[in-house]
Amino acid sequence: MKNLWLHLKPKNIFFYFLALVLLSCFVIFSTVNERGRLKPRVFERPRLTVQYKINCTAIYEMDPVELGKTLAIRNQKSYVGPNDEAVVNSTSDCDQFMSQGYDMIQGSEFEREFPLAYSLVVHQDAALVERLLRAVYMPHNIYCIHYDLKSSDDFISAMKGLARCIPNVFIASNLERVQYAGFSRLKADLNCLSDLLDSEVKWKYVINLCGQDFPLRTNAELVSDLKELKGRNMVESKWPGGKQWRWTYHHLLKDSNSEYYSSPVITSEMKSPPPHNIAMFVGSAYFTLSREFVFFVNQSSLASDFLAWSEDTFSPDEHFWATMIRVSGVPGEVPSSDPEISELASKTRLVKWWSLEERFYPPCTGVRVREVCIYGSAELRWLLNYGHWFANKVDPKVDPVLMECLEEKLAEKRLQREV
Ligand SMILES: *[C@@H]1O[C@H](CO)[C@@H](O)[C@H](O)[C@H]1NC(C)=O
Ligand SMILES: *[C@@H]1O[C@H](CO)[C@@H](O)[C@H](O)[C@H]1NC(C)=O
Ligand SMILES: *[C@@H]1O[C@H](CO)[C@@H](O)[C@H](O)[C@H]1NC(C)=O
Repeated sequence: MKNLWLHLKPKNIFFYFLALVLLSCFVIFSTVNERGRLKPRVFERPRLTVQYKINCTAIYEMDPVELGKTLAIRNQKSYVGPNDEAVVNSTSDCDQFMSQGYDMIQGSEFEREFPLAYSLVVHQDAALVERLLRAVYMPHNIYCIHYDLKSSDDFISAMKGLARCIPNVFIASNLERVQYAGFSRLKADLNCLSDLLDSEVKWKYVINLCGQDFPLRTNAELVSDLKELKGRNMVESKWPGGKQWRWTYHHLLKDSNSEYYSSPVITSEMKSPPPHNIAMFVGSAYFTLSREFVFFVNQSSLASDFLAWSEDTFSPDEHFWATMIRVSGVPGEVPSSDPEISELASKTRLVKWWSLEERFYPPCTGVRVREVCIYGSAELRWLLNYGHWFANKVDPKVDPVLMECLEEKLAEKRLQREV
């Protein structure tokens, strides 16, 4: 042993020493961590970019070797995020919860003088909701969470925990049993909107989000884009085309507990035309609306008549906003004679439809579910450069690396702005 020691060169001795120091640090660190375990800890997510040494800048640069690593990870299909109970546990001590990053988030003066509101309509995967919330969170903004009355008890407790711990996050005062393509989907957002109008925070714009959305812009970037709108809304609004049946016939609203995705059923009974001679337009459920517009919708009898008429239509969320922004005299009005506002023109949401791939954008590199792409890592660059504000759909179970890289790139942009 002694001989061996003598044979070692001074340089090597240095490295053995270093290794020893690192080892003791690790032991001390683990002991502290062990003690920390007595307190509720913030749940840990798998960090695959760390575990597999993935370089997000190289992903962004479309480096084939780096992209190959993400494919290998995806093929393992091994991503398991924290469950709802872990989120509930982590919010049992709010000081501890907030100290894991939320209390460090703050906006610049430029952002604080232009507060935003969010309506989050969510029903499952609390850890994913928390991740989305964290990505868009600013303590001077205001966030309404609408959970589904059908959601699990753990999910509901987790949402209540987030609302209890995080300042300016609250649960909608009225909750719906949300039915796919039903009126309740629209109602969920409306419930949040009226609560948001009552809030102390005098927000300028409101954006709605669902569980598989993710931001492509920092809060500061969003604020500067929204300032340029000068009071206009950002909503898709097109001619009805083949979608007239959605409101020409009365739809039967089935509400069943068991069928999670039961949707309104068409009948042969004709409906009356829309009230007040309103010209119909179609778009999507996603919106970015000015406070003045939301206030108008809340107060106007035309809006409430149109809303009541929409109750037995198919997917009213996809024509209510698209139509309302065209009504003569609304704040930020888009005249009904104006050209269509396609989803490519409306920056609110970047959705990749199978039918438009190759024509308008490169093919989906994730997986397609019901015609819509759940993005893959090879789309990181496209997503960030397209110019839209939010992506749909993003899911770590499909590609865990994409979401981590989006988070990393947004964090880099925030830092660049600070210096
Ligand atoms: C990540 O990749 C970029 C671009 O390929 C490269 O410039 C950078 O040095 C890499 N960073 C690390 C930590 O390897
Ligand atoms: C949550 O906390 C309870 C009680 O402390 C514990 O039994 C349970 O294992 C925890 N669950 C998770 C997922 O951490
Ligand atoms: C308008 O908003 C208030 C709260 O600000 C709410 O009580 C009321 O129900 C809303 N009305 C409509 C028609 O949404």
